[in-house]
Amino acid sequence: MRMRKIGTTDIEASVVALGAWAIGGGPWWGESDDHRSIEAIHAAMDAGVNLIDTAPVYGWGRSEEVVGRAIRGRRDQVVLATKCGLWWHDQRGSLFFELEGRSVRRYLRPEAIRQEVEDSLRRLGTDYIDLYQTHWQSPEPDKDPIADTMACLLKLKEEGKIRAIGASNVDVAQIKEYQAKGVLDAIQPRYSMLDRTIEAELLPYCLEERISTLVYSPLEQGLLTGAITMDQTFSAGEYRNNIPWFAQANRRKVLAMLEGWRPLTEKYRCSLAQLVIAWTVAQPGVTFALCGARKPEHSRLNAVGGTLTLDAEDIMTMRRDAEALGEPQ
Ligand SMILES: NC(=O)c1ccc[n+]([C@@H]2O[C@H](COP(=O)([O-])OP(=O)(O)OC[C@H]3O[C@@H](n4cnc5c(N)ncnc54)[C@H](OP(=O)(O)O)[C@@H]3O)[C@@H](O)[C@H]2O)c1
Repeated sequence: MRMRKIGTTDIEASVVALGAWAIGGGPWWGESDDHRSIEAIHAAMDAGVNLIDTAPVYGWGRSEEVVGRAIRGRRDQVVLATKCGLWWHDQRGSLFFELEGRSVRRYLRPEAIRQEVEDSLRRLGTDYIDLYQTHWQSPEPDKDPIADTMACLLKLKEEGKIRAIGASNVDVAQIKEYQAKGVLDAIQPRYSMLDRTIEAELLPYCLEERISTLVYSPLEQGLLTGAITMDQTFSAGEYRNNIPWFAQANRRKVLAMLEGWRPLTEKYRCSLAQLVIAWTVAQPGVTFALCGARKPEHSRLNAVGGTLTLDAEDIMTMRRDAEALGEPQ
């Protein structure tokens, strides 16, 4: 497994990270089995993955609790990343979405972060978090000042409750606001071969500033693994129904592209998921690929993607093929 440092810290993490969103289950992903999820976490760790990403909102604490159970007795073998700022405990903050009768708000005031960090530490069964990230930035007009948020995060770092600071779903202007107060170690943006928006500005900026990137949904929620067929459907409310690439006409084009990569999977003796993961972590500015998995067979196989090195011409071919798809209709 290839390892990289988080920002300018000395925290070494695996290029393939385990994303624990689906482990939280619920309407976004359909039901999850905690026992299988724990096996998936163990399989990833046994295959060299040490970076695990979760968040309180993934199953209202369930994902963090399952991760906490899985790492009991093995805390020193993992780099734990979790988040704050999606708040459903009272009416404070800006309404973001409603789910299962709860109103989830974007809220990044220090007093809320203080409560969130203690809740996460308890659920994860640890006394420190390696990378603590603001999940979604609070919007105008009730925008929580990033300077106040960052001051709180820096204080938590001083107290030893967190080791590194990250921000998810940020643009360059917001990153600069964090940097005006202190060192931002990592960001967490969306990125896959089918959604390369951040290549224009965000990735070059982070490369220049030595800010790590943990890119999310690199497998396009399973579509890029080749395991999702034309006739597969998802229940109402499942997140994948919102992704344009899952619509029939778009999905057909993606599956045809994947089919065309058979010579590459044969050349590298790997699966499509492994090929796509290796491509993702080879992109300039991409530090870690956050691959979601809740089945041991998936997490074990995905880890291998972090050991492969693709030839430059193959990386170019895959990029050309993905670009040729254009935008989803
Ligand atoms: N900061 C944010 O706002 C944000 C947003 C989204 C995601 N994230 C983070 O990024 C992580 C990854 O993103 P993601 O979960 O959206 O998507 P993803 O990694 O692109 O896809 C994950 C899903 O793909 C399927 N899959 C994974 N490996 C597979 C394999 N080898 N073969 C077949 N299918 C496979 C699994 O679906 P099944 O389990 O259904 O089989 C899995 O849950 C999340 O878990 C979370 O930690 C963060």
